Amino acid sequence: MVQLTLPKGSKPTTGKVFKAAPGSKDVKTYKVYRYDPEVDADPRWDVYEVPTGDHGPMLLDALIHIKNTIDPTLSFRRSCREGICGSCSMNIDGRNTLACTKGWDECQSSNITIAPLPHQPVVKDLVTDLSLFYAQYDSIQPYLQSDEPDPEKERLQSPADREKLDGLYECILCACCSTSCPSYWWNQEEYLGPAALLQSYRWISDSRDDATQKRLDDLEDPFKLYRCHTIMNCAQVCPKGLNPAKAIAETKKLMIAPGRKKQAA
Ligand code: SF4
Ligand code: F3S
Ligand code: FES
Repeated sequence: MVQLTLPKGSKPTTGKVFKAAPGSKDVKTYKVYRYDPEVDADPRWDVYEVPTGDHGPMLLDALIHIKNTIDPTLSFRRSCREGICGSCSMNIDGRNTLACTKGWDECQSSNITIAPLPHQPVVKDLVTDLSLFYAQYDSIQPYLQSDEPDPEKERLQSPADREKLDGLYECILCACCSTSCPSYWWNQEEYLGPAALLQSYRWISDSRDDATQKRLDDLEDPFKLYRCHTIMNCAQVCPKGLNPAKAIAETKKLMIAPGRKKQAA
């Protein structure tokens, strides 16, 4: 069963408040979701007052500063610090994004709320369990399937065919899109979600791949693909500027394209 970010019936209460030193300048207040399901009965918000001059320009810099100098118990994921690995995805002021590419000065107010990705089981604090998300990615078989014998050097592709992958291959699997999609929130056991479907379309669009019809057959299901109701949150939040909604719409068109025949099961 899917465990929501907030355990049913509980609302986070205010927890500890870590004040900035008296006289500190340019202080931002970070209200951060804290929850260790193995220890805590309920989640809480801890509040950290941090002068902006104490750390670098990004929200991840603020979190690292908090962890290193104020509260080492705070947990969050990060690795590359440059928007490539997808680890630091979280919900900032109500919007999913990457903490390493979002500047604290981009936030509207001095009070910034930081929570885990919505509707995912919380492992601890800002770390969620994305096992289902990765299993769904795995299920679309995200690798080349060619009927051609292995080439000696490389599989050539025309520049025009290569261009068809633009806007698809750049996905870093941060899960910002899927976890901002209401349809995914309520049907994530059955609906593949925008990230997996964007990746599915990435392989469907690849001129070197020969499994297109099989890939489409695998999506012939009331839930896997068709639970997208064009809500568009996915395209609005993607920190890489990708458009999973468009990829899903293109896939739906291919499903009913003239001449498409379902393969025998
Ligand atoms: Fe993240 Fe965008 Fe890929 Fe979704 S499509 S997983 S938001 S990079
Ligand atoms: Fe969800 Fe995006 Fe479709 S927000 S419903 S996957 S258009
Ligand atoms: Fe890698 Fe933010 S730390 S994307």
